[in-house]
Amino acid sequence: MGLLGGKRRRRGIWVPARFLLPLLLLLPASKAGAPPSSASPASPRSPDMERQEEEIPPGNFPATRAARLLAHYITAQRGSPSRLFQVPTVLQARREHIPGVGNKYHLKVSLEEALQKSNAVNCTAEILYHHSDPHVAAEVHYTVEGELEINTEEADNKFYNKIKNLSEPLEAQKIPDNYGNMVAEMEPVRHLALVACAYVIWQISTEDTLYNLAQIESVKQVKRKDDYLEFSFVVLLHDMVSQEIIPWHMQVLWHPQHGVKVTQNSRQPKRAAQD
Ligand SMILES: *[C@@H]1O[C@H](CO)[C@@H](O)[C@H](O)[C@H]1NC(C)=O
Ligand SMILES: *[C@@H]1O[C@H](CO)[C@@H](O)[C@H](O)[C@H]1NC(C)=O
Repeated sequence: MGLLGGKRRRRGIWVPARFLLPLLLLLPASKAGAPPSSASPASPRSPDMERQEEEIPPGNFPATRAARLLAHYITAQRGSPSRLFQVPTVLQARREHIPGVGNKYHLKVSLEEALQKSNAVNCTAEILYHHSDPHVAAEVHYTVEGELEINTEEADNKFYNKIKNLSEPLEAQKIPDNYGNMVAEMEPVRHLALVACAYVIWQISTEDTLYNLAQIESVKQVKRKDDYLEFSFVVLLHDMVSQEIIPWHMQVLWHPQHGVKVTQNSRQPKRAAQD
């Protein structure tokens, strides 16, 4: 990876600017160019005894970060290789400090499907970051006002049949490659990885992290006797706050009618190039 001249160097790993692009899918465009500085008022740990509640500016980082987590959560539940959700706008945000528990964000956002560009609908949500040790995933509840009009059945079935009909199991490395290039055929594979990553990111996020998928390091299809497609992914997750790049393994099942399931996932040791 060190051969890449002219790319940005971050904590010892070369991160081509293009690596940051996948996260655009889940982030309002204006935020992507400005990763948060650690000086932003991310999570004021006020004296833990008092219950406090305050309006926070909807465009500010703590609100947009909670909205990103909401988008990951909805994508993990309802995403597919042709269906990813994003929260382009936060309309209102309130943060409630619950002593001994954590911070709960009450959001009103607009929600849309990112790939087919559905209509946007309003959505109210509560995202509770537990401040507990050991870590537990944020608790997310949301209500969509109205219908998201999206139909991805045809696109999903097309991709499904294409993979099912391959004579050799799919196997690929570095999507996109270190120069940010990717053949168009790999788009649905990357979208599937984004859905699986959305689940992992929901599981591991804290109020102090902002993860996104930087690159699929490798993907290998596992032959199955049933109707599911199974893939073993190793992905690189990028935490924009700490700039850490973490390899993560995910075993993923998908069927167009039954959705995406991450059956196993684990953090992998960093290789020399990633330290
Ligand atoms: C979403 O809510 C805002 C007010 O917060 C309202 O102005 C807008 O019309 C709503 N949009 C939809 C699609 O209902
Ligand atoms: C895959 O094979 C099935 C039958 O085996 C066929 O109906 C379908 O059209 C094929 N799909 C593609 C994309 O080649």
